[in-house]
Amino acid sequence: MSPVFHFGFLTALALLSITVSPVACWRPWRPQANATATPTDLLYGGSKKFEGSSEFVHLRYHMGPVLTSNITVHTIWYGTWQKSQKKIIREFINSISAPAASKGRPSVSGWWRTVQQYTDQTGANISHTVRLGEEKNDRFYSHGKSLTRLSIQSVIKSAVTARSKPLPINPKSGLYLLLTSADVYVQDFCGQVCGFHYFTFPSIVGYTLPYAWVGNSAKLCPGVCAYPFAVPEYIPGLKPLKSPNGDIGVDGMISVIGHEIAELATNPLVNAWYAGQDPSAPVEIADLCEGIYGTGGGGSYTGQMLEDRDGATYNMNGIRRRYLVQWVWNHLVNYCTGPNALDQ
Ligand SMILES: *[C@@H]1O[C@H](CO)[C@@H](O)[C@H](O)[C@H]1NC(C)=O
Ligand SMILES: *[C@@H]1O[C@H](CO)[C@@H](O)[C@H](O)[C@H]1NC(C)=O
Ligand SMILES: *[C@@H]1O[C@H](CO)[C@@H](O)[C@H](O)[C@H]1NC(C)=O
Repeated sequence: MSPVFHFGFLTALALLSITVSPVACWRPWRPQANATATPTDLLYGGSKKFEGSSEFVHLRYHMGPVLTSNITVHTIWYGTWQKSQKKIIREFINSISAPAASKGRPSVSGWWRTVQQYTDQTGANISHTVRLGEEKNDRFYSHGKSLTRLSIQSVIKSAVTARSKPLPINPKSGLYLLLTSADVYVQDFCGQVCGFHYFTFPSIVGYTLPYAWVGNSAKLCPGVCAYPFAVPEYIPGLKPLKSPNGDIGVDGMISVIGHEIAELATNPLVNAWYAGQDPSAPVEIADLCEGIYGTGGGGSYTGQMLEDRDGATYNMNGIRRRYLVQWVWNHLVNYCTGPNALDQ
């Protein structure tokens, strides 16, 4: 593949043609990339397509369940988290089904509207309602500071079987969100992924529960996973943008959390909405729009974003804060859409 860097549409094509770990959240900046590309290549090179639009993307429904009843997100805070960090993330999740009011358009709930367009076999839409469920703190790193994909399931097992205040078991409409603090490494973190989703195995956890992991990349690889609030060192001259909530790691996590929740809702057991022939490497509704945050996005361009009075970059309003969240694929129009689209 000629362009070293892939955004959006190119990422999707790359995913269609190579074998990757299932349901990973890919980032625009690939660590194997090197310093031969200039910032100009990054900004203007790559795909000429806009917002992922393509006749080549065949997103299909594979008949599995999607989340059509009120979705509850149960969070596991693994490691050391500040109150202020938790607040930014909780408010994002609470913003997903908040009435458009509060801080106004474009809103996080407007972003979720694209996800609601997806249906199951019966024609039932993805739930409008996403709410914060119970939370569990795993302050003392119960499974160490380096987790594998399998040990992640053990962390979830500990949370749902804890003697005091276990997380509720809700395989039908519960999502389990494991968030690891900046001092925790997770298998493939930074090198290939910033987050991923899957479901737990009954043999490990006792139940089949859709879950996602998202890591705080602030210490390990902000230029990979908190882009564009941090930029990779190997790209001279590219400046990071100011993040909307003053926490680069957490502001970077928000888009990945949005990515994973959107995919969990539409493909919780990895047998519902995805593109590609290979169910072990599905390309899902957020993968198709990786790195696209606004109108014109695609190739290596993020698209048009917004800037607040303090100079921070964002593209949607939550109930009390602003966030930068990637767009998701809209199967009705066959391109990526988001609430800050200029042509709406
Ligand atoms: C660096 O990038 C160039 C151009 O894309 C490529 O030809 C070369 O193989 C790369 N080197 C490494 C070490 O990846
Ligand atoms: C439900 O999905 C259908 C088909 O995609 C779409 O036309 C409709 O607008 C969706 N309804 C809501 C409330 O999102
Ligand atoms: C689902 O959420 C809505 C609010 O969005 C609420 O009115 C309704 O009672 C909830 N339904 C269930 C079954 O909890």
